[in-house]
Amino acid sequence: MTRIQIKISDITKEHVDAIVNAANASLLGGGGVDGAIHRAGGPRLLEECRSLGGCKTGQAKITNGYNLPTKYVIHTVGPVWHGGRKNEDQLLATCYTNSLKIAKDHGLKTIAFSAISTGVYRFPIDRAAKIAIKTIKAFLVNNPEIDKVVFVCFSRDVYDSYLNNDARDC
Ligand code: APR
Repeated sequence: MTRIQIKISDITKEHVDAIVNAANASLLGGGGVDGAIHRAGGPRLLEECRSLGGCKTGQAKITNGYNLPTKYVIHTVGPVWHGGRKNEDQLLATCYTNSLKIAKDHGLKTIAFSAISTGVYRFPIDRAAKIAIKTIKAFLVNNPEIDKVVFVCFSRDVYDSYLNNDARDC
């Protein structure tokens, strides 16, 4: 059974247990996928985010999905790319690990990730895809409770990058 899926889609349309948002430290919304999730999730999503007191880079926090088809939203804050000498790789990996840990702790089975940090935060797409896939595969090997992880790519270049990094073989 393939436990990693890759697709081109709008993550706000995904019917999974949780979608993972590429948020910022305030957790109060923004552009990109963050903006799309808040637009679709509605005002109660923002209201719950306000109660969380922000989020550090590499960390993740969970809210309900409200008007979204997903049950939950896991908000994680990816690193801004500064050339790779400020621990960006490790911080990006912890975004994926911490999001999966939260999903596991909540008994969730299907999780859809957006391509964290690869937009406004300018993390090189191919490098981000390698980190994401390696990190998720390592987690899935040790955590059979998670049934499926979906990489939801918003563009063909991100999709091709995940594909080239062997996203589906797991
Ligand atoms: N569904 C899936 N993926 C999407 C969607 C969507 N509806 N909209 C955008 N994306 C993709 C982008 O194409 C990119 O590949 O999400 C990826 C992450 O890009 P950003 O949303 O720009 O996130 P990031 O690079 O992590 O920057 C985060 O941007 O939006 C602000 O508030 C956010 O300050 C934070 C920063």
